[in-house]
Amino acid sequence: MLSAAMSHSPAPQQATISGKAKSLTGRAVVPGDKSISHRALIMGALAVGETRISGLLMGEDVLRTAAAMAALGAKVEQAKVEEGKDAAGAPIWRVWGRGIGGLSEPEDVLDLGNSGTGARLIAGLLAAYPFTSFMTGDASLRRRPMDRVITPLSQTGAKFICRAGGRLPMAITGTPLPMPLSYDSPIASAQVKSAVLLAGLHAGGITTVTEPAASRDHTERMFRYFGVDVRTETTPNRYQVQVVGQPELTGKPISVPGDPSSAAFLVVAALLVPGSHLILPNIGVNPLRTGLFDVLQSMGADITYTNRRDQAGEPVADIEVRSSSLKGVTVPASRAPSMIDEYPILAVAAACAEGVTRMEGLAELKVKESDRLAAMAQGLEACGISAQAEGDTLTVRGGGPKGDAAVTIPVKLDHRIAMSFLVLGMVGARPIAIDDASAISTSFPDFIGLMNGLGANIQATDGRE
Ligand code: S3P
Repeated sequence: MLSAAMSHSPAPQQATISGKAKSLTGRAVVPGDKSISHRALIMGALAVGETRISGLLMGEDVLRTAAAMAALGAKVEQAKVEEGKDAAGAPIWRVWGRGIGGLSEPEDVLDLGNSGTGARLIAGLLAAYPFTSFMTGDASLRRRPMDRVITPLSQTGAKFICRAGGRLPMAITGTPLPMPLSYDSPIASAQVKSAVLLAGLHAGGITTVTEPAASRDHTERMFRYFGVDVRTETTPNRYQVQVVGQPELTGKPISVPGDPSSAAFLVVAALLVPGSHLILPNIGVNPLRTGLFDVLQSMGADITYTNRRDQAGEPVADIEVRSSSLKGVTVPASRAPSMIDEYPILAVAAACAEGVTRMEGLAELKVKESDRLAAMAQGLEACGISAQAEGDTLTVRGGGPKGDAAVTIPVKLDHRIAMSFLVLGMVGARPIAIDDASAISTSFPDFIGLMNGLGANIQATDGRE
């Protein structure tokens, strides 16, 4: 069932924006939140009984986590057609978990594809099981540092063997007696925090993680939703979370909201293309994720939230956006945790704003699916926009793409770089192509079809849209 669910038509290899979009109008359903989707599958695998998930992102990253949970002994299925689909028309997923401590040794290597979140969260789980498992990923993930989770997780007694620099592939032998940890993380990273908390869920006692600023708190919220005792404390310089381990988890229904990080591409496209007006229903508006929308509003963007509500412990709203004239701003480092994935598309907005935008404190951008700091500076320069990456700062001078010669941007297995440059191609005369549209399926499989349905003119060079 699961492997059948993973087979889907491959995305086009190349895509070009040819000609400006006239305007983008209508209502668009954004796919499910990637972070929450990973966690829903993992919590489902740890709970006893059935967890029904609606709105799950059907992106490559999440399907890899689904396959990993199945390999670890959970039953993971897409509901049969007659059992219906969720409001967005996406299939409902059903997970029957094994209980805390109930996962079993996988027979084969766990391949997490492009997903840093999948790899790091599952490393946290595996640290708490007394068997050896092996993990790998694609060329992008195999370049990314795993030592940030190996360092704290080793304190539980788990053993890790990996390539130089803490890179995948990696072997993990978990501990037979998981001990609660107290870890003071040097970086605000939800992946690190969540890896430690997932290991801690298996330990008798209280696990504590602190970070220099609060990163996205989906793990804490989902733990609470499942009844785990979670305590948090925020001070001006630290955020602390504590969980009480070894709870008895029972399966629960989860409705995954639309991903604000995916909505970001539609929001910026609508802001930049004159005459646009989009309504995006059911988007997650967790304040630790909406930094981009706050910054865009401070640049002059017409973005409003309506119908605010709570869904499985997460704040959700409908977002309405109208095209707007933007002005450059300085974005301080303190903003970074709440919009870490949104700097590529903010850089596109900045490139089309009036004046200069300075984005500070972007060290973490260098270790994402690609070095996004370098990728944005180089890509924008190739489109005739002045952009400098210096240290951890990206400075972009507005005014829009210059020149009319076609340019092709290398995507480097990075979905957000791919989508950012497709959005930039919607403004100005310059045809902008990306060399690999298949990377987009990581988080937003129907991005091109959805954008074209709203009025964009993205052409896949293999003839499909
Ligand atoms: C994520 C955390 C962030 C983010 C990633 C998803 C998560 O990474 O960039 O796309 O779901 O926990 P870091 O924890 O490395 O900041």
